[in-house]
Amino acid sequence: MQGSGPLNGDIPIGGAKNSALKLMAASLLAEGSTSLLNVPDIADVAIMSELLEAMGVEIERIGDRIDLDVPAELDPIAPYSLVERMRASIAVLGPLLARIGHARVAMPGGDDFGSRPIDMHLQGLEQLGATFSYQHGDISGEAHQLVGAEVFLEFPSVGATENLMMAAVLAQGETVIENAAREPEITDLANFLSQMGAMIDGVGTSRVVIEGVEVLRPTTYTTIPDRIEAATFLAAVAVCGGEVLLKGARPDHMEMLIRKLEEMGMGLTVEPSGLRAEVTDRLRAVDVSTLPYPGLATDYKPFLVAALCVAEGAGMVTENIFAGRFRYVDELVRMGAEIRAEGRHAVVRGVERLSGAPVRAHDIRAGAALVIAGLAAEGETVIANAYHVDRGYEDLAGKLTSVGAQVTRA
Ligand code: EPU
Repeated sequence: MQGSGPLNGDIPIGGAKNSALKLMAASLLAEGSTSLLNVPDIADVAIMSELLEAMGVEIERIGDRIDLDVPAELDPIAPYSLVERMRASIAVLGPLLARIGHARVAMPGGDDFGSRPIDMHLQGLEQLGATFSYQHGDISGEAHQLVGAEVFLEFPSVGATENLMMAAVLAQGETVIENAAREPEITDLANFLSQMGAMIDGVGTSRVVIEGVEVLRPTTYTTIPDRIEAATFLAAVAVCGGEVLLKGARPDHMEMLIRKLEEMGMGLTVEPSGLRAEVTDRLRAVDVSTLPYPGLATDYKPFLVAALCVAEGAGMVTENIFAGRFRYVDELVRMGAEIRAEGRHAVVRGVERLSGAPVRAHDIRAGAALVIAGLAAEGETVIANAYHVDRGYEDLAGKLTSVGAQVTRA
């Protein structure tokens, strides 16, 4: 990849990875044919497909649509070989317990963000009546009949809220999830479940009330656009300059990010077909602090750090969601960035231009941040372990190239 800019043109935004994966898992809740539209063609979706196929689901992709044929009998096992490749596999736990009363799912283990426990998923499901045992690295869950309960989450965990919602829709009676996560992907899942016949109230608030129903029916549903993919392209415009229309983006899902980027000096206009971004001058540094939605998403942070690397002035970045999510900083420093990171904080002092270098991606968003840094760098940047980027992005290089960036996926 070469330093690039300015960027000009339109980029279509694909379906949200973090929504599509959960919609796929939720399809297990109803026997029959579910169709999901606007599903990105990315490696994580392929892994979730493999996982569901191993359980007996037949899956076919036609363009951006996938058809899932869910049988009456399911083989409720999520093996380590798949779970270790994708933590979101844990999302099958709630649906399996609700639909057939048992599940064996490998424990996810650690990852590049540091420790990522699933205790809130398990405690919540226990409150609905599930019991768990642990053997040979697997969690076995049993639930003869889930029964609604009041569950108070210690932290508004996205994954725990989703697993609980997917279990509660078929539980007996009412479940209340207090301190629920409010991310747009949760609302998307709730809308999908409602279309399947679930009864859910308080969607998008921190108190979600679910009245269990006997049975859900398969349906056809369109995934929301990916706000994190959109944020990636906004950061690309931030460092390269230019004017780009993000077609299909949902500005209402990105309000805090839009405010931050405006504070940095980016021009952003909401248009009927999406969000237009314009940058004519070097951006100004700002402070960044991640929080659960509607706060600034932790997934945006690596891109904002990349943008701060070449902004005017210094910004303090604070990570409040994942303690260990700063590993990519050392890679940016290899490219000439001035960053001091300690614990949950990093101070980024902008330099005029980064310097292309061989670097390594440690996870999806860190990989994308290195792509952005490469666009802001003089000379060539080569990113090792770029497969991480393929896990969450459909043709990132192609989309950037279409607006004038110099990127190739080897
Ligand atoms: N946590 C616990 N116990 C739990 C669950 C979570 O301590 O049982 C902690 C986590 O360790 C973390 C915090 O709670 O410190 C928040 O984790 P959360 O459960 O909200 O995250 P997640 O469901 O594991 C999803 C996204 C992530 C995104 C986070 C935060 C998917 C597949 N993943 O993860 O996206 O960063 O929410 O918004 O939806 C990505 O797309 O690259 C990605 C990592």
